[in-house]
Amino acid sequence: MDMLELIKERRSPRGFFEKQISEEDLNKIFDAARWAASSYNGQPWRFIYADKEKNPELYATLLDIMVEFNQAWAKAAPVLMITMTTVKYEHSGEDYKHAWHDLGLAVGTMSVMAQSLGISLHQMGGFDALKAREVLNIPDRLEPVTMIAMGYGGLPGNLPLDIYKMEIIPRVRKEIEEIAFNKPFGKI
Ligand SMILES: Cc1cc2nc3c(=O)[nH]c(=O)nc-3n(C[C@H](O)[C@H](O)[C@H](O)COP(=O)(O)O)c2cc1C
Repeated sequence: MDMLELIKERRSPRGFFEKQISEEDLNKIFDAARWAASSYNGQPWRFIYADKEKNPELYATLLDIMVEFNQAWAKAAPVLMITMTTVKYEHSGEDYKHAWHDLGLAVGTMSVMAQSLGISLHQMGGFDALKAREVLNIPDRLEPVTMIAMGYGGLPGNLPLDIYKMEIIPRVRKEIEEIAFNKPFGKI
């Protein structure tokens, strides 16, 4: 498949089919994260994930960390995850200024890998980071950044009406001319 088409097909669904993600596909998705670029090859990304059927207790713990709106739809996803990043470089102990950037790159490669397998990731900023730290025993050297619902996107008809409406609105993007420039900004 054309790469740009694959990238454009990626979306963040709020409805999911009741279909498990195989161990093999999950490994491919995490493997894709490993190969992302990172500052000083610091590889700051960390993930705690739970499969709804295989690890229901941890799944419930992860779901409970999310804000109510996200719980309403994410509970249909077969896999939930929290992403974290290290806050210091391992090699020097200095502040890892690009840690969030590098975690984002890893999640980006995971998204594209997943998309090629027909699997979607829906990232969330709507969760309680303090609660996450407490219930998951996240050490100080790591910072919780996002949560992710992962699965085979579909069945929007199962969603509450307000969320269903969000699912069917057209996806919009800025034009290339609005984000990429071949000259400096003008003086104000
Ligand atoms: C860092 C981040 C935080 C987000 N937080 C939420 C969230 O809390 N709840 C939600 O429903 N969607 C959330 N989203 C999904 C965005 O709304 C979505 O990516 C955006 O509207 C573009 O849609 P698309 O991913 O389908 O192209 C988040 C996405 C990112 C990358």
